[in-house]
Amino acid sequence: MQDRARILGISGSLRQASYNSALLRAARDLAPAGAQIEIFDLSDIPFYNGDVESSGLPEPVARLAEAVRTANALLIVTPEYNHSVPAVLKNAIDWISRPSAGNPLRHKPIALLGASGGQYGTVRAQSHLRQIFASAIEAYVMIKPDLFVNNAASKIDADGNVTDEETRQRIAAHVEALVAWSRLVSREPVAGAAH
Ligand code: FNR
Repeated sequence: MQDRARILGISGSLRQASYNSALLRAARDLAPAGAQIEIFDLSDIPFYNGDVESSGLPEPVARLAEAVRTANALLIVTPEYNHSVPAVLKNAIDWISRPSAGNPLRHKPIALLGASGGQYGTVRAQSHLRQIFASAIEAYVMIKPDLFVNNAASKIDADGNVTDEETRQRIAAHVEALVAWSRLVSREPVAGAAH
């Protein structure tokens, strides 16, 4: 992956004035020259239903699965709802995690970040996402750095601009670290090695 890294950006919030979507747009705008972030909007993803799945993937789900498959890495920006992952994001993960043999998330490099109005900055939601991706999905979530944007109202203005300079720098560093992480974990397996 020596070309520009293609990163798919996903926000777990659907609301227009979302702090998390603001972080994602900032990440896209602050991405280093070696990376390009394309944002996928989850608004059109329906609730997972096994009957619907059996009769053919809904078009937005197929589009998401293909976007994940062709991306070098994912940048997931998550709110925290009731100390966990918002249903919108979990639902999207559930859809494209199947069938497990062809799961486009498997072995995908992923970085997490998130913003909340409170003091913990989505630390619990991100912790749950790490568990989902490690134990069920077998995706490669970046270990460090982590990025928890707390007290979001003091760092993101009413127009959805990230105004806090330290947060902007940390977002840029996060994307840069994801590019390096993606290169690290995407190396071809050693021939003959068990995996
Ligand atoms: C929240 N919020 C919240 N915040 C937090 O830090 N920990 C939490 O457990 C929760 N729980 C929670 C549940 C539900 C149902 C809602 C709607 C909200 C507040 C949340 O951080 C805040 O609404 C953010 O602004 C949501 O992110 P977006 O939409 O701005 O990206």
